[in-house]
Amino acid sequence: MKRICVLPGDGIGPEVISCATRVLEATGIDAELLHGEIGQSSFRKNGEHLPAETLHLMRDSDSCLFGAVTTPSDPSYESPVLRFRKELGLYANLRPVRSLVRISGREPVDLVIVRENTEGLYTQREVYDDGGVTTMRRVSHVASARIVRFAIDYALKNGRKRICCVHKANVLKESDGLFLSVFRGLMGKEGVSLEAEEQLVDSAAMKLVTEPHKFDVIVTLNLYGDIISDVAAGSAGGLGFAPSGNIGDRHSVFGPAHGSAPDIAGKKLANPTAAILSGAMMLRHIGFGEAAKNIEDGVKSVYESGHLTVDVGGRHDSESFTDHVVRKIREMPSS
Ligand code: NAI
Ligand code: MG
Repeated sequence: MKRICVLPGDGIGPEVISCATRVLEATGIDAELLHGEIGQSSFRKNGEHLPAETLHLMRDSDSCLFGAVTTPSDPSYESPVLRFRKELGLYANLRPVRSLVRISGREPVDLVIVRENTEGLYTQREVYDDGGVTTMRRVSHVASARIVRFAIDYALKNGRKRICCVHKANVLKESDGLFLSVFRGLMGKEGVSLEAEEQLVDSAAMKLVTEPHKFDVIVTLNLYGDIISDVAAGSAGGLGFAPSGNIGDRHSVFGPAHGSAPDIAGKKLANPTAAILSGAMMLRHIGFGEAAKNIEDGVKSVYESGHLTVDVGGRHDSESFTDHVVRKIREMPSS
């Protein structure tokens, strides 16, 4: 039996994760769901945003399903998300964006962003000097090669045709230049059957708004990946549709790309699709490919039957939308 660590967190995190776990349970997979604490809710109870017990549970599980946490204003706060990415060696952030709802005048989007998850501007080394702040931005050969290889491997295994390197090497000649040269080198050796594309991050952001359907796989640095994945999600209905996976060689954490959305928390307005699809990504990662496909097909068919959540003009709240997904999955022969 597989062990899945479930970390609801703050704001809409618990709302969307409870929908996602209902869907996981509906697939009938042989797995135990173990709940852990993270974020402000944990801080209030345990005095820590990421208690050692939670980290232990994460390490001891086959994978984790995480909701979201709220960032407090305290300057000494250490993000539990950045910490678990580091502690568990989660170097790749996989962010697929697929259209589930039709947006008039737009072609359907089906792209995947592979974001470097360990360095860039997220090293959090900031020092005051000369009346300003200097932030260290690290780009290493090892991490660049690791993420480009991950993107190539992902593209080959998932029948993708093209990988676009998104960078800013025209200005950041050394750091982004290194990332780009690693991309060119590896695509020339290990990704020869794929088409290699390159795009500056600012124009890539524009194209993700105007013609997102033209992208296939994108590989990019940490901050660019964070920003353009929200842009891409916006082109396919919004953050409620954007699942993600933080993946390392031994551990993994899946969860919606969105945050804790305090503006809608407690109102049942959150779209649970991103959390539900993150659950599907997690199941595929730990060997439940069929159950993962059932979830994805179930969600797709609920949207096709016109059951929409309020964020895309429908009338369903988080729970009533999930009821439909659960019903579809239960109707499937293998569930
Ligand atoms: P956010 O992603 O929480 O929300 C941005 C906008 O999208 C809001 O208008 C929200 O209502 C909407 N939205 C997000 N998820 C939605 C869903 N499932 N259904 C419908 N609408 C949805 O980003 P924001 O507002 O910048 O940050 C809020 C808090 O979340 C902050 O404290 C931030 O630090 C934290 N955060 C946490 C993340 C994590 O735990 N992985 C990631 C991003 C932000
Ligand atoms: Mg983000």
